[in-house]
Amino acid sequence: MSSLKFLALASLVTTAAVAAETAKPDAETMKRGQAVYTRTCLACHQPTGMGLPPVFPPLAGSEWIAKGASIAVRNITNGMMGPVTVKGVTYNGMMPPVTGVTDKDIADVVTYVNNSCGNTGPVVTDADVAGIKKKYADRKTPWTAAEYETDGQ
Ligand code: HEC
Repeated sequence: MSSLKFLALASLVTTAAVAAETAKPDAETMKRGQAVYTRTCLACHQPTGMGLPPVFPPLAGSEWIAKGASIAVRNITNGMMGPVTVKGVTYNGMMPPVTGVTDKDIADVVTYVNNSCGNTGPVVTDADVAGIKKKYADRKTPWTAAEYETDGQ
C-alpha cells in the first residue's frame, strides 16, 4: 500500500472513531428512554432530574452519571445505599433495585439520562448493559458510593 493510501485510510478510521464517540441518540431512543424514566425513575429523581434534596439526589449534572454508564446500570440492577455526595450535597438513603426492565429498557433510560437535563453523555446499547450485568453477575446487595469511587467502571 502506498503511504498516501495508508494515510487516507488512517484518517478515515480516526473520523469513524470520533463519530462513534460523539454520536447523539436518535429521537426514537430518547422517546423510549423518557418513557422508561417516567415509569421507573421520576418518582424519586423528579421530572427534571433535579432530585429532591436532601432525600433524592439529582441526576442532572451528577458527577456519578458523568463517570460512565456502568454506575447507573449497576444502580438499576442492584440498588445503592449509604452516603453519597452529589453536587456538594451528601445523601444517605437507599435506592431499591429497579424491577420489570429489560436490558433494552435500561440502555434507553441510561442513554436518556446521559443526554437530558443538561447532561451530555454516550449512547448505551443493550449489549453494553448485558456486558455490565455479566461482569457483576455475582453481586446480590446494593452498591455504595465508596465502591464506585474505587471502581467507577
Ligand atoms: C425509590 C426511589 C428511587 C428510584 C425509583 C430511583 N432512584 Fe436512583 N437513587 C435513589 C436514592 C435514594 C439514591 C441515593 C442512594 C444512596 O444514598 O446511596 C439514588 C442514587 C442514584 C444514582 C447515583 C447518585 C446520583 O444522583 O447520580 C444514580 C445514577 C441513580 N440513582 C439513577 C437512577 C435511575 C436511572 C433510575 C431509574 C431507572 C433511578 N435511579 C430510580 C432513589 C431512587
